[in-house]
Formats: sequence, structure tokens, C-alpha cells
Amino acid sequence: MKFLVLNGPNLNLLGLREPEIYGRETYADLEAYVRAAAAEAGVEVELFQSNHEGALVDAIQGAWGRVDGIVINPAAYTHTSVAILDALKAVALPAVEVHLSDVKSREEFRQVSYAGMACIRTFIGLGFAGYREAIFHLKEYLSKS
Ligand code: DQA
Repeated sequence: MKFLVLNGPNLNLLGLREPEIYGRETYADLEAYVRAAAAEAGVEVELFQSNHEGALVDAIQGAWGRVDGIVINPAAYTHTSVAILDALKAVALPAVEVHLSDVKSREEFRQVSYAGMACIRTFIGLGFAGYREAIFHLKEYLSKS
């Protein structure tokens, strides 16, 4: 099994950006964490981060026929991007949404998730552990189907 793990804008600045919300670990730490979680689950992973909506759409389109599932933290595009929602629907790969922070207890504008409408499950507020949960959830989902 192979999964694509996508991260959206400003997640490359983990460690620097609002550490009281997102923690002090860096994007490189997140990559290492995701690779370790994938190894533990016995799946392959490919990671991609971009600050550009179209690049994320291209990555989702490019996943079709190549990977079995998608883990996505669309970051700020979560709350604005119909293009990312449509791309997820277009490829119709099982996708799991992750947010490091507990978006439900934050600002009003973070209460809508477009991408989440195309996801089988969402993990919020668990920090890096949300990605591990997502990988295991996808693996279990695909094993059953
Ligand atoms: C985030 C939450 C989003 O609202 C925010 O724009 C981000 C990160 C999270 O992981 O908690 O950039 O997706």
C-alpha cells in the first residue's frame, strides 16, 4: 500500500509559526514522524508540501493510479478551496484530513472544511499523532474494502 501525505501552506514553517498553537517541532521533524509511522504501519509514503493551491491540486491529480490513499492537511486552504475539494472528488481516492490544532475550538472562519467533505475521516487537535492515526485509519479502511 502506498499513501500520499500532503501538507498545505505555511506548514513548512512549523517550529517557527505560532509555536503556542503548532508546537516547536519543524516540518523536517514532521516528515521524519510520518515516515516512522508509515514504517510502523507497513505502508509506503510519499510526502509533498506546497504553499500553492494549484500545486496541491496537481499533486492530488497526479496521485490517481499511483497511490492507494491520501492523507491531507490543506492548512488554510481547508477553509477556502473548492479546487482541492473537487480534485479529491475527481480522483476518488480514500482521503483522510488532518489538522494539528483543534480547529473546532478556534476562529469561526476555521469551522468550515471544504476538503473534509471529500474525506472519509478527520483527525484534529492531536498534533503530529493525527498523521499516524490517519495512516492507520486509511490502512484499515483499505484492508476492509
Ligand atoms: C491547520 C489549521 C488551519 O486552520 C490553519 O490555517 C493551518 C494549520 C492545522 O494543522 O491545525 O495552517 O490546518
